[in-house]
This record gives sequence, C-alpha cells and structure tokens, in this order.
Amino acid sequence: MAEFHDLAELALNRDGESWGNLGYWKSETDYSDACRALALLLGEQAGLDDQAVVFDAGFGCGDQLHLWLEHFRVAQLHGANLSRIQTDHAKARLAESGFPAAATAIVQGDVNDPKVWTTALGSNQPSHVLALDCAYHFTSRVDFFRLARQNLAPAGRLALTDFMLAEPHGSGSLVYWLLRWMLKRSHIAEANIVPRDRYLCQLAESGFGESQIVDISEHVMPGFARSIRRLRQQNAVTGSRKILGWSGLVKYTVTGRFLEWAHRRSILRYCVISATKTG
Ligand SMILES: C[S@@+](CC[C@H](N)C(=O)[O-])C[C@H]1O[C@@H](n2cnc3c(N)ncnc32)[C@H](O)[C@@H]1O
Repeated sequence: MAEFHDLAELALNRDGESWGNLGYWKSETDYSDACRALALLLGEQAGLDDQAVVFDAGFGCGDQLHLWLEHFRVAQLHGANLSRIQTDHAKARLAESGFPAAATAIVQGDVNDPKVWTTALGSNQPSHVLALDCAYHFTSRVDFFRLARQNLAPAGRLALTDFMLAEPHGSGSLVYWLLRWMLKRSHIAEANIVPRDRYLCQLAESGFGESQIVDISEHVMPGFARSIRRLRQQNAVTGSRKILGWSGLVKYTVTGRFLEWAHRRSILRYCVISATKTG
C-alpha cells in the first residue's frame, strides 16, 4: 500500500542524499545543505556528544542518523519511523556505511506505541530523544512526550523542531478553515498545533523542565517556499536535476505556498525546542 511518507523527497536532494525536512536557510541555498543545517542545529541544541545514547523518532530516510553517528559521534543510536519504505532505505544505508548495530536498532513503527520503544531500545535507556521536523505528524504529540519521559534516563534531554500556533484563531475565521484544510491534507492532527504557552504546559505536565523554545520561523518557512519555486523552474527546464512527479510537485508547491502565507500572516511558528526530564 502507498505510504504518505515515502521516497518522494529523494527528488529534492543532491544525488546520494535523502533529507525530508523544511531546512534551515539562514546561510544555505541548496535543499540538502539546508536540511543538514536544521539537523545540526537540533543536535547542538540537544547537546549531543560521544557519550550520548540517542532515540530518534521519525528519522525519515536516515540522513540525520549519519550526522548523529559521524559528526556528533554518539555512542549508541536507536530509533523508530512510521514509514516502512523509508526505514528500509535508512537501514540499508547504515549497513552499507559500516554501522550494522545502528541498522538493527532502528525499527519501523509508530512512536505513539510503547512496544515500538521497547523493540528499538531493548534494555537501553536513551540520554537523548530527538524528533526532527516530525512531531506535528505524530498521532498525539502529548503521548509522545509521555513515552519519551518514561524511556529517558534520569535528567535525559528531549529536543525537537516543531510547529506551533502564533496565536489562537476564532473557529469561524477564514484563517482557521484554511489552516484546518492544510493540516488535514498534510496528515497533521489539529490537536498537535497549539500556541507556545500551551506547548510549554504540555511539556511541564509530561514531566519536563528547563524548557527552551527558540523561534526560527524566518529561517525556515520562507526559505523552503523559495526552494520549491526554484525546483519548479528547474523541473520546467529539465536537465541536470531529477524530475519530481506531478503529484510530488503539487504536494510541495501547495506546502511551500501555504508556509509562505502562514509565515507572512503570522499564523504558524517554527521552533527548536529542548527540555530536560525532571524528577
Ligand atoms: C517531514 S518528515 C521528516 C523526516 C526526517 N526527520 C528529516 O528531517 O528528513 C516526517 C517523518 O516523520 C515520520 N513519522 C510520522 N508519524 C510518525 C509516527 N507516528 N511514528 C514514527 N514516525 C513518524 C514519517 O515517517 C517521516 O519520516
């Protein structure tokens, strides 16, 4: 059966790379570089080092796993991803690159399912739980926070990049209806998109303290939209780049335009969030 999260992102990337996030466009102009820059920012915010035992939730096609292993030199890597085809891709690349242990410690599954954590972690307790540009897709982000807390080692760190609402909108407004339509077509539960204050409360109620939220919207949302416009032009010219299929082009064009509008109208914010397990 076709999956919503598949290998379509390969066409956005340079050959050999398969990132699938919105990118951090502060000084990057290429999609693969911008995606890597967003992952780097998350790894730094999380404080990854060579002692870290990482659980990566929603690792996409696995490029970020190589960054945790090769750049941050983490001690152990585990993870889960809902997409079967992406997980197979990530496992194959880890095995080819000489990381057989990590290839077996990443699993296909829903991070809202406690059994998936047990399968991926065995008896290990992660020092870090990461979610790069994916927690808004989870069935319930609050339940993910609770499972992250349950599984983390004492004083473990949770770090993610995520969307939040700039401010609540009246349920009858056009903005509200457009937002609801876009969330539905993007497979995002409405309950996951909450304002900053509510987000902080959800972290605190799930057992996290020292929470930090850094708003990076201006370096994410317009940059992604620009990159999709460039890609459409390249697609029209054809030649050097891989061609994105019609449905992929529509999907990314709609997403790019929506994010540009949501940023300009200050409807959504994109942030790096980190917090420490309390108690
Ligand atoms: C926007 S992509 C980001 C992928 C990757 N983190 C990256 O930066 O390239 C969202 C990812 O979240 C994963 N995902 C969505 N819902 C999930 C769930 N409930 N459990 C685990 N992974 C999930 C998808 O399979 C997809 O790989």
